[in-house]
Amino acid sequence: MAEGKLITLSVIKADIGSLAGHHIVHPDTIAAATKVLAEAKRKGLIIDFYVTNAGDDLELIMTHTKGVDSPDIHGLAWDAFKEAAKVAKELGLYAAGQDLLVDAFSGNVRGLGPGVAEMEFVERPAEPVAIFMADKTEPGAFNLPMYKIFADPFNTAGLVIDPRMHEGFIFEIYDVFEGKYVKLSAPEEIYDILAIIGTPGRFIVRRVYRKADGEIGAVVSVERLNLIAGKYVGKDDPVAIVRAQSGFPAMGEILEAFAFPHLVAGWMRGSHHGPLMPVPLRYSKCTRFDGPPRVIGLGFNIKNGRLVGPSDLFDDVAFDETRRLAQTVAEYMRRHGPFMPHRLGPEEMEYTTLPQVLEKLKDRFKIEEKAVKAKKPQIRSELLEETHD
Ligand code: F6R
Ligand code: MG
Ligand code: MG
Repeated sequence: MAEGKLITLSVIKADIGSLAGHHIVHPDTIAAATKVLAEAKRKGLIIDFYVTNAGDDLELIMTHTKGVDSPDIHGLAWDAFKEAAKVAKELGLYAAGQDLLVDAFSGNVRGLGPGVAEMEFVERPAEPVAIFMADKTEPGAFNLPMYKIFADPFNTAGLVIDPRMHEGFIFEIYDVFEGKYVKLSAPEEIYDILAIIGTPGRFIVRRVYRKADGEIGAVVSVERLNLIAGKYVGKDDPVAIVRAQSGFPAMGEILEAFAFPHLVAGWMRGSHHGPLMPVPLRYSKCTRFDGPPRVIGLGFNIKNGRLVGPSDLFDDVAFDETRRLAQTVAEYMRRHGPFMPHRLGPEEMEYTTLPQVLEKLKDRFKIEEKAVKAKKPQIRSELLEETHD
């Protein structure tokens, strides 16, 4: 078989302002970003591109040969966002320029606000990929589906049946608080994997590799905006790329992982748990209580870098029951109002505007002299630090 072309697929996203609140991008901002990318394609910097939106997030999908973390490609995405933000400002859109945390680009968009998922691979004769883009949630929202896709034989039949997948996959998991990562092997270490990724606000499945040959199978954006900015500036709405078929999970196995609308953090003010609802592009618009959190999926074939497609993956009646369950769960969670577990726990609320409200009450608490005080639990992060010095 002739070797295919070495291609980079980059998905870079930012919220640069939205129409009538925080629920949907304006078509003129999509047009502004499209114009910048069309010019870059004409000049040969990128091979192909597709611009879309997940709720209030502008999504740039690009193919090129510059590799991951290329200053040229990140610079291009930055220019596209800047142009779109300019239009957003002209139109007086809400939170115009929100995710562009700095004024000047400095070589890489990571840490500057946008979210990034990129992978480089040698194109197979047919290269099907799924691109997932979520709104009103955080990168760890993809932990559960990634686990199901690449480690759960009740989801992915190929883990049992297909000899090319039977050895399993390597999970690269990133600790957003410590800036460290660990590679764990499925199926041998699935209990360790789950012990970590069950805390999705901290540990994020960042990459997945096929064990048999080290080929990359998936990548997820790990940028957590609030941690970067040190204050609440939106909820790090994530993107992910998954390669499908011939030795990777089938497209249907990948999509099956989204048939359960699991609870994720985000939704209103980035402060509430709600179900992740898979929707077609036409419903990519977060209305009820600024949500519920939702995810869109686009399927492409990549041929010599050309993006053939997309197929709107969740535009299928087969996901109607998932959506119905999501609505029921959304209704149930909403009835809790400001109470946990609908509202996030105190550690996550640190990055919202709640501490400002609590600060006001601080001096109104009176010391109880004979109080029997409960011990505050410590987060034992040192347990994870001991392995390195
Ligand atoms: C969530 C989100 C929205 C806003 C909410 C309040 O990621 O962006 O839910 O947090 O609409 O927005 P402000 O504070 O801008 O009025
Ligand atoms: Mg927004
Ligand atoms: Mg958003």
